[in-house]
Amino acid sequence: MSILSGKRVLLGISAGIAAYKTVALVRLLIKQGADVKVIMTPAAKEFVTPLTLATISKNPVLSEFINTEEENPTWNNHVELGLWADLLLIAPATANTIAKMTSGQCDNLLLATYLSAKCPTYIAPAMDLDMYQHLSTSSNLEKLSSSGVAIIPAEEGELASGLVGYGRMAEPEHIVSYLTDHLLHVSPWFGKKVLITAGPTYEPIDPVRFIGNHSTGTMGYCLAEVAAQFGAEVILVSGPTHLVAKHPKIETLRVTTAEEMMAQVKNHYKKVDITICSAAVADYKPAAVSDIKLKKNDKPLELVLVRNPDILAWCGEQKKKQYLVGFALETHNALTYAKAKLQNKNCDLLVLNSLKDPGAGFGTTTNQVTLIDKHLSTFPLELNDKRIVALEICKFIINH
Ligand code: C5P
Repeated sequence: MSILSGKRVLLGISAGIAAYKTVALVRLLIKQGADVKVIMTPAAKEFVTPLTLATISKNPVLSEFINTEEENPTWNNHVELGLWADLLLIAPATANTIAKMTSGQCDNLLLATYLSAKCPTYIAPAMDLDMYQHLSTSSNLEKLSSSGVAIIPAEEGELASGLVGYGRMAEPEHIVSYLTDHLLHVSPWFGKKVLITAGPTYEPIDPVRFIGNHSTGTMGYCLAEVAAQFGAEVILVSGPTHLVAKHPKIETLRVTTAEEMMAQVKNHYKKVDITICSAAVADYKPAAVSDIKLKKNDKPLELVLVRNPDILAWCGEQKKKQYLVGFALETHNALTYAKAKLQNKNCDLLVLNSLKDPGAGFGTTTNQVTLIDKHLSTFPLELNDKRIVALEICKFIINH
């Protein structure tokens, strides 16, 4: 399967003769499984017809801010287009479009979409040799590159002017292979499956009450988001939380109790490459659950609690080729207990949460953790936003 499969590609076409090659480009992108929408600058329509591109892309081609041809004119919302796209590819990118991108001008729909887009942007420059070599073009390309735009190098050969040299738009096949290589580079977990447990579990006492804990699931949801951004298919087994995972590569399975969480982990564990148990699973549950609400009286209420299954320990016992990550939250002798837990539960990595430090632990948006690897080496991370901590944990897994 291509990494472009299922990707939403917004193709911006500016007015260069190489625009005729975009028909083949759209075809190739679609063959890779991408969903392609085309935006053309008004002048680009002189080089290739919107009808051809609409037919090949199977989507209407957009060019103006307002569709005046319709009986009730509608607005082409550049913000929504930018949010729709997984990547914006501008090919051909003319000297004029490149200059306007550099200076933040937005006098057409394509430029406005570029300014609003949150996704990665790629441009394939195409122009005559002298324009390509002009100091202003090279300095504009440098500025765009340093602001994060990926430049797909122009190629050498015969140009429409008859000159020979650099300035030809990269061939459609080369553009597609550049995108594929680049996406694979930023998606180290493409083709991998990651299982994550998150949030608390609630262990019912009666139909109204439960035993639970303060976990919000934030750390696990951040890990799921990062894993998905790294290209993984993520199964997120989530205890009760108000959080919602939005990334299309995350499948959320909602559970309430530790037993239910265990059942979902058992269903999926064998087929995953990496498992991260970040859930704060209740260690005990009431031995019996009342069908009806328990009525209070003046006597003390005694609850008999029995052990819940230890999901992480089960994963450690069953482990074959999986990489297994556990979490630990200790209030004293933290490092000693955490190291013992790593070994007892057969983990490859243990993330030790600190409860003592301000800004760390339950219910905060930040966390301070220490990573402990299989050799019991410790790597303290700085207090940071949980999204950054999640990124650091995933990067650590990749590098080890
Ligand atoms: O033993 P302790 O509960 O301190 O270990 C914490 C780690 O074990 C966490 O990774 C947590 O998700 C996991 N755990 C589990 N099932 C339990 C208890 C803890 O998976 N019943």
